[in-house]
Amino acid sequence: MSFIIFNGDITDRQNAKVDIEDRGYQFGDGIYEVVRIYNGHPFALTAHIERFFESAAKIQMDISYSKEKIESLIYALLDKEGKSTASLYLQYSRGISVRNHVIPKNINGTLVGYLLDGERPVALMENGVSAIIAADTRWLHCDIKSISLLGNILAKSKAVEAGCTEAILHRDQIVTEGSSTNIWIVQDGELITHPANNLILNGITRQQLIMIATQHDMPYTEKSFTVTELLHADEVFLTSTTLEIVPITIIDGKKIGNGKPGAITKELQKLFTLSIEAECGLLV
Ligand SMILES: Cc1ncc(COP(=O)(O)O)c(C=O)c1O
Repeated sequence: MSFIIFNGDITDRQNAKVDIEDRGYQFGDGIYEVVRIYNGHPFALTAHIERFFESAAKIQMDISYSKEKIESLIYALLDKEGKSTASLYLQYSRGISVRNHVIPKNINGTLVGYLLDGERPVALMENGVSAIIAADTRWLHCDIKSISLLGNILAKSKAVEAGCTEAILHRDQIVTEGSSTNIWIVQDGELITHPANNLILNGITRQQLIMIATQHDMPYTEKSFTVTELLHADEVFLTSTTLEIVPITIIDGKKIGNGKPGAITKELQKLFTLSIEAECGLLV
């Protein structure tokens, strides 16, 4: 990585400096997005930019750049970097102000964007991963894609320490989402995922899958399900921008179904790949 988006321009990473009183640095006062790049094209960019602005509005933060300007900066960065497969990290923090909890008025935020390397996680998608179940100790505004991610970080690290890939979170036995993913179960042929309310991030991949399920007459419901239902589901999988659709075959050491990626999960993976290809070109 050498070039970055920094406050309205593309610049060399070395030229970018963030002040110690930037509220993103001090308070975690900011929002972010991660966009997948396939064949040099951003996937579902409009949806990501919309959510970026929605997250900002939910914390009373005005982004001092238009959606069009941010989009053009992203294309300029992609042009400069010339990467085929990557993830774009985009962050906007509230900006620099003398330390005080009260939201300052009339300051410009700090915009940063750069590309992270990362191939599609093909092996995980094919073989599935294991997960742990953990208490959801986060705040009650999980619909905001906030850069304050301590609850998520602690849960993910607990999963990795246990030799797993993801922590599936629950509040009073109701499964909410993963530490950085949305969680789905398949029960008697029906797809089930938590409703998009304040307890989860309404994932762009989640939204894409709902569109796919609708188009293909695959039954789905957005409703809560319990940890017990999770453990007894026919199939479990996670979705996210970077992981796409990954089967979860073992939870807390217990096999889900026969312990192999399920047929409906595999079908969704195929359909999702087709929708990426329709927007970004063939994936090899
Ligand atoms: C907590 C959480 N839930 C769900 C998701 C999946 O969202 P998306 O599909 O937009 O990547 C993420 C992605 O980072 C996340 O952090």
